[in-house]
Amino acid sequence: MDAFEPSLIAFVCNWCTYTAADLAGTSRLYYPPNVRLIRVMCTGMVDPQYVIKAFLEGADGVLVSGCHPGDCHYINGNYKARRRIRLLKEILPRFGFDERRLRLTWIGASDGIEFSHIITELVEELKGLGPVQTQNSMVI
Ligand code: FES
Repeated sequence: MDAFEPSLIAFVCNWCTYTAADLAGTSRLYYPPNVRLIRVMCTGMVDPQYVIKAFLEGADGVLVSGCHPGDCHYINGNYKARRRIRLLKEILPRFGFDERRLRLTWIGASDGIEFSHIITELVEELKGLGPVQTQNSMVI
């Protein structure tokens, strides 16, 4: 039997985490290939529906990652994201998803090593949780 390889969708801010991912790549740092990056201009534009849709379409985990508090290029987008993620963690179980599958992080543009560590840690955690059990038929 093949070992479970989780799929991780990461919504990353253009200005910070995407740049950190790029730095990790150009620095030849290792991180698992399980992650698919979706570059957004700011975490504040990540609609909660995007997260739920990612899970409903087969993601085993979702990461939202952007600039550190106070560093958002759109003033307060990351604070909005933080509030939305908090609410999403409350409602995800109603859709049948463990809230541990969703994570919000702040990774600055120069934090390639941090990016590599977080992706590695999250993929390992998702392996521990196992595949998503799709037991619902909810459609947004
Ligand atoms: S611009 Fe990076 S989180 Fe807003």
